[in-house]
Amino acid sequence: MANTEIIEKITDLRAKRQAVILAHNYQIGKVQDIADFVGDSLELSQNAAKTEAKVIVFCGVHFMAETAYILSPNKTVLLPDINAGCPMANMITAESLRVKKKELPGAAVVCYVNSSAEVKAESDICCTSANAVKVVESVPNDEILFVPDQYLGHYVATQTKKKLHLWPGYCPTHVKIQPEDILKLKRQYPEAKAIVHPECRPEVIAVADEVLSTGGMMRFARQTEAKEIIIGTEIGIIHRLSKENPDKKFYPASPKATCPNMKRITLEKVLWSLQDMSPEIKVPEEVRLKAKIAVDRMLAVGRSS
Ligand code: 13P
Ligand code: SF4
Repeated sequence: MANTEIIEKITDLRAKRQAVILAHNYQIGKVQDIADFVGDSLELSQNAAKTEAKVIVFCGVHFMAETAYILSPNKTVLLPDINAGCPMANMITAESLRVKKKELPGAAVVCYVNSSAEVKAESDICCTSANAVKVVESVPNDEILFVPDQYLGHYVATQTKKKLHLWPGYCPTHVKIQPEDILKLKRQYPEAKAIVHPECRPEVIAVADEVLSTGGMMRFARQTEAKEIIIGTEIGIIHRLSKENPDKKFYPASPKATCPNMKRITLEKVLWSLQDMSPEIKVPEEVRLKAKIAVDRMLAVGRSS
C-alpha cells in the first residue's frame, strides 16, 4: 500500500474510532507527521490525562502507553507494536525495588517514568527528564532512592543537596554518545551550542552547554539565537527540530544514538492497530491505583525544563 493510501485510511479510522494519535519526539518522521500531538514524556502524559478521545494510539514505547492507561483507564490505549519496550525500564522489577527499599527505610523513592507500572506502584513519586530536579526538591525526605536511571540520577545529584542512592540502570541508546562526539562537532562548528539529554553519561553532560528533556530541546531550539545546534539525544528528534526551525542547522551528536524500540512503530502498524483495536495496553486495577498516586504527584509538580 502506498503511504498516501495508508494515511487516508488512518485519517478515516481515527475519526470513526474517535481516536487521538500521540507520538514521542523519537518516532520516525512519517509517524510524527500523522500524529495529533508530538511531545516529550511529560507532555504526552499530560495530554493522555486530559484528552476526550475514546481511543489513544500511543506511538512510543510500552511504559508510555502504560502511563496513558494509568491516567485514563476508561479509554482504549493501543501500542501499535507490543514489542516496543524500553530496555532501561526492564532494568528494575517491583520485587528488586522492594528489597532495596527495606535497606533504605528513610529514603523516598523517586522513579523515572521510564519504568513499569509495578515499579511506579512501589514508588512515592514519578519524574521525567523535564522535572526530575524539581520532583526531588519537592519531597520532604533528605534521602532519595532514585530508580532506574543512574545517569539521570547522577545529574540530579549535581543539582541538589539531597543524598541520592542510584539504581544502576541506564539507557543503551544514550550511553552510545561519547564526549569526543560532542567535542569533535564543536571543533567543526565553533558557533554551535551543544544540548544533551540527562540520560547521557556525566562525561558527556560535562562538555554540553545545556542539559534538557526532549521537550526542553524543542523550546531551546525555538528561542536560542544560535543558528547551529549539536543534539545529544536519540536522532528521531532531528525531524521535528528541522521541521519547526527551518532556518537552523541541527547536528546529531552520534548516528549510533538510535532507539530500535522507538523505531518499531510504522505507519502500517498504526493503521493495523486502529483496524484491529489491538495491541491494547492495560494494567491490573490494584497496581494502577497505586501507580497513579506516584504519577499524579509528578503531574502536580509540573515541568522545569
Ligand atoms: P523525554 O521525556 O525527554 O522525552 O525522554 C524520554 C526518553 O525515553 C528518553 O530516552
Ligand atoms: Fe528507553 Fe533509551 Fe529508548 Fe528512551 S531512548 S525509550 S530510555 S531505550
